[in-house]
Amino acid sequence: MIILGRPKGDPKKEHYYREAKKQGYRARSAFKLKQIARKHRLLKGVRIVVDLCSSPGGWTQVLREIDHDLEIIAVDLSPMAPIENVRFIQGDITKEETLQEIERFSRGVADLVISDCSPKVSGNWQLDVARQLSLAEATLDIGFRLLGANGKVLAKVFQGPDFQEFMKRTKERFSSVRLIKPDASRKTSAEIYLLAIGPRRTASE
Ligand SMILES: C[S@@+](CC[C@H](N)C(=O)[O-])C[C@H]1O[C@@H](n2cnc3c(N)ncnc32)[C@H](O)[C@@H]1O
Repeated sequence: MIILGRPKGDPKKEHYYREAKKQGYRARSAFKLKQIARKHRLLKGVRIVVDLCSSPGGWTQVLREIDHDLEIIAVDLSPMAPIENVRFIQGDITKEETLQEIERFSRGVADLVISDCSPKVSGNWQLDVARQLSLAEATLDIGFRLLGANGKVLAKVFQGPDFQEFMKRTKERFSSVRLIKPDASRKTSAEIYLLAIGPRRTASE
């Protein structure tokens, strides 16, 4: 069965959950970013990163750990305990006012936008997948607005009914698009990570 949230059973027995506790990460998802960053050289040439849907902060911890000099702007609906030299915005990534605040901190530019967004699970599979897809769309829009020519977006997506259409739109907007399933992502989970590089802009954009 394909699942969206946490699997049933005792999460304490799960390998990455235990490792996260042991290594001081706030979330097991830290290992997904670690694996993607290593394999796809995600942070090569990157100076400014926007970490969307960042709470509780596992991915932000990994960014800081990999590169102490990165400028990091983290955003979430929920609060997040501080991390050294990270600017945190509590806000909704789908709202223009949040985007304006990101632009104020980043001076309107970024090299990398990452997002690990999950909506509050309602229990209605179709609705949850549709909501997650709109968070992934919002991520791509933010990336399109902030990134330079070689900029990258890494976004979590749940593979549901509108996934192929979403892929088609993303390929029209970015020069390179690939899908990544890191080892730390459960095989039974519908989640996959999309890495899009190089916004295709017309002269007017
Ligand atoms: C799986 S958690 C992210 C985990 C994080 N990457 C980490 O490593 O700690 C998903 C997050 O998405 C956030 N979220 C969902 N909808 C959002 C929205 N519209 N704007 C901002 N954050 C949102 C939730 O508050 C939640 O903290």
